[in-house]
Amino acid sequence: MPFKRNILCIGAGYVGGPTMAMIAFKCPQYKVTVVDINPERIAQWNSDNLPIYEPGLDQVVRAARGRNLFFSTEIEKGIQESDVIFVSVNTPTKTFGAGAGMAADLQYWDKTAREIRKYSRSNKIIVEKSTLPVKTAQAMERILTCADTALCFDVLSNPEFLAEGTAIQNLENPDRVLIGSAQSAEGICARDVLVEIYANWVPREKIITSNIWSSELSKLVANAFLAQRISSVNSISALCEKADADVQEVARAVGMDSRVGAKFLNASVGFGGSCFKKDILNLVYICRYYDLREVADYWEGVVKINEYQKERFILNMLQVMFNTLAGKKICLFGFAFKADTGDTRESPAIQIAKRLMEERAELVITDPKAIYNAEEDLKGAIGNVTYVEDPCDAAAGCCAIAVMTEWPLYKNLDYREIYRKMAKPAFIFDGRNILDHEALHNMGFNVFPIGKPPLTHF
Ligand SMILES: NC(=O)c1ccc[n+]([C@@H]2O[C@H](COP(=O)([O-])OP(=O)(O)OC[C@H]3O[C@@H](n4cnc5c(N)ncnc54)[C@H](O)[C@@H]3O)[C@@H](O)[C@H]2O)c1
Repeated sequence: MPFKRNILCIGAGYVGGPTMAMIAFKCPQYKVTVVDINPERIAQWNSDNLPIYEPGLDQVVRAARGRNLFFSTEIEKGIQESDVIFVSVNTPTKTFGAGAGMAADLQYWDKTAREIRKYSRSNKIIVEKSTLPVKTAQAMERILTCADTALCFDVLSNPEFLAEGTAIQNLENPDRVLIGSAQSAEGICARDVLVEIYANWVPREKIITSNIWSSELSKLVANAFLAQRISSVNSISALCEKADADVQEVARAVGMDSRVGAKFLNASVGFGGSCFKKDILNLVYICRYYDLREVADYWEGVVKINEYQKERFILNMLQVMFNTLAGKKICLFGFAFKADTGDTRESPAIQIAKRLMEERAELVITDPKAIYNAEEDLKGAIGNVTYVEDPCDAAAGCCAIAVMTEWPLYKNLDYREIYRKMAKPAFIFDGRNILDHEALHNMGFNVFPIGKPPLTHF
């Protein structure tokens, strides 16, 4: 039986892979093809060893792959055969030229628009899935329609709000799906096609629509607000450490105010991930472009506090370990930017590891899903680093453990045995406040949580 619709996604990454797998899983009447310029990534999507770790993803992919979900490198064919094209290519922070270190690098996006124009033989609905600066849809429309063509391209904005580690849950049961469109008759018509796709499993009242600029901006603002909460509580953690308060007690009291809410109030070594920093900087860049200096400075403060928090963590380690780390073995528990993912992009662990190496510490890194990425991230960094799968073996002979990722498995290790195998005095720096600090202290550890008084034996 022919498929009701041919959907293509360009970009088979953390967003493109899971989102398309979910559409295919929920909508067997559509053919969903995901293409990428990276043949290795496509081969992995077609294997038993998917390129990303995400709880529940394997089952969803296995159910739909080969039925109505396909991964391929044939971009030209994919474009020609599709009527709806999601674009989910990477949009990192620009590292060169004007806006370097702040603006979004749109080269992958621009190339994709040109490819769509080149290979299209029929009208298309183009869906922005990548996170993009405001007004990118307009730029895309200009690229697509500048050639002498009778074809019609409707560009929609449909930002992705999934969080890595809970992507499948978020996709299956989203808080909302946002679709931005032009307010013209054609724009509304295209929007309704996308609404119909999501309505296969998302309740109608959760599918919200807006104008296209609001939709593009909402994604940046949502990430800025989430990151702002982390930086807010992290800034208070510094004060708690000075004032003998306990940031978890403060956060609990504040979060129980229903106007504030309890989520995203865990103090930590800092936020990471590929999106928060780049999206805030993108927002800051737009504000500066419109000469809104105060607004730009306000949001830039969120990123600055995050940098401060990482640096504070390192300087504290250095100071309490008698002002020298040279030659000391230090174990990092976790390298991923959060639990339940192997993603290490912008993980605080990268900066902490590099700074520890600068202090000439010997590093041992352990993580259940991110060791391969950690090795890639630290390639070329000068210093001594080894990678060990088992956390108990990793900690043996070390002077200190620094918890970088809130993997639940770190809560239930045999710390008595770990303590026995470590060099003394033994330190634990809990960068995620997940361990039982008092129990560790009673075993003999010197414990340094975030935002609460340390528990030491000195
Ligand atoms: N990772 C997240 O949690 C998340 C969440 C929401 C939104 N986003 C946004 O989604 C977008 C994608 O993020 P990601 O994490 O999936 O990135 P990613 O780097 O994991 O994946 C992007 C993929 O696009 C491919 N690509 C680049 N140019 C291409 C081209 N011309 N043709 C075909 N393929 C091409 C790359 O090879 C890569 O596999 C970004 O804009 C990001 O900000 C990410």
